[in-house]
Amino acid sequence: MQVYPSVLVKDFEEFEAKINLVKGLVDTVHLDIMDGVFVENSTIYDIDKINSFDWGVDYELHLMVKESEIEKWLNTNAKRIIFHYEAINQKPKTKNQNHKAKIKNLINKIRERKKEVGIAVNMETDIENIFPFLNELDLVLIMSIKPGWSGQKFTPEALEKVKKLRDKKFNGIIEIDGGVNEENIDAIANSGAGAVSVASAIWKDKSKIKDQISKLQIKN
Ligand code: DX5
Ligand code: ZN
Repeated sequence: MQVYPSVLVKDFEEFEAKINLVKGLVDTVHLDIMDGVFVENSTIYDIDKINSFDWGVDYELHLMVKESEIEKWLNTNAKRIIFHYEAINQKPKTKNQNHKAKIKNLINKIRERKKEVGIAVNMETDIENIFPFLNELDLVLIMSIKPGWSGQKFTPEALEKVKKLRDKKFNGIIEIDGGVNEENIDAIANSGAGAVSVASAIWKDKSKIKDQISKLQIKN
């Protein structure tokens, strides 16, 4: 199981401290970005500061932002950009601009920047909506909580979406986000998901980070 520590912070010092705690322990860090519009909560990052930071580990951006705020994040050195299916306005301004085409354009723009692409899907969204894009995606992020905050309870129904993606022979990464811990990691691994992003279960005890991560990593 790939474990991506979820970093949802309000200030740069906490950001820096958390990255330094997990670099060397994981492949990839999951950085949560919120605009206070697409979700109620917000995070503040300066793109230049993120780019000049000495990461020492790859990172993906989980963009919980409205459509018009997505593109600027392509200017970061993130390995992977994950945008929300629900953030793309379903009612485009012109007839030629249908919803599907908008999503495809965005996927292409991310690819042009030589980044991997993921789509995130909220709990109330049917997974079938993203089937038309599966061949172009490196990753699907399945939310098992309402996006906005860490520390919420895992929703097992989210795993039904993993099974549907497996049935469609999706061969990218299926990542689960929200409420993941030692109690539900077996069910997540059995469903066929290959990655989890985890905040509370990793950060709960900063003296045992390595242990907490490896307990989740050993599952497959
Ligand atoms: C929520 C974020 C999650 C969150 C996970 O909007 O996308 O990544 O930080 O936190 P836990 O693991 O505590 O549910
Ligand atoms: Zn997230």
